[in-house]
Amino acid sequence: MKTPRPRGLFITLEGIDGAGKSTQFEALVEILRAAGRTVVATREPGGTALGERLRELLLSEPMSTSTEALLMFAARQEHVLTVIEPALLQGHDVVCDRFTDATLAYQGAGKGIPRDRLQTLAHWVHPGLLPDCTLLLDLPSSVAAQRLRAQQRTPDRFEQQPEAFFERVRRSYLELAAEEPARWCVIDALQSPQEIGERIRNFLKKYV
Ligand code: TMP
Repeated sequence: MKTPRPRGLFITLEGIDGAGKSTQFEALVEILRAAGRTVVATREPGGTALGERLRELLLSEPMSTSTEALLMFAARQEHVLTVIEPALLQGHDVVCDRFTDATLAYQGAGKGIPRDRLQTLAHWVHPGLLPDCTLLLDLPSSVAAQRLRAQQRTPDRFEQQPEAFFERVRRSYLELAAEEPARWCVIDALQSPQEIGERIRNFLKKYV
């Protein structure tokens, strides 16, 4: 009888807009691949054809806060069923740029949807699925706001939120990390990209 392959690692990356996630996402994937692991790199909202279409709407179309939360979970449902769970079961690692913690921080703390309502949806959409570890790039909202202002392109619907919104989101991320210190790794995103990369590499040593 064949021994089943061990389940892959589910790693998520979180942080407020402007925290520098994109650069570190690439570094994270590279560290795992260099360790000989097979990695599925994906993102939310998005990660499937339908999810990417929902992402376009979420980032541009005016909508109520509850519609926004439900669309986040609709995109997530498709992503979990068709990408994340199959990959983990095949023994691949999944590195996901944002997951349900982002909904708790943005639609929960940022926009005021009660956490238990979001937890009910999370339980429906991905019962029993939780990231093995979550890296949080933590940055003061004032610095993130400066970075966003310096961008050349037009800010999307989320990036247009006031600094106070991002402060609530940041605090919520820090609270979530404090609730589950074994899962979260909080990284000071004011450090240089090299220092952040080193911190990620050290943290991952206990997993790979
Ligand atoms: P990104 O720019 O990091 O790819 O994320 C797109 C935006 O979507 C970002 O501003 C955060 C937001 N977002 C939520 O508000 N809730 C969620 O559940 C997710 C996954 C993203």
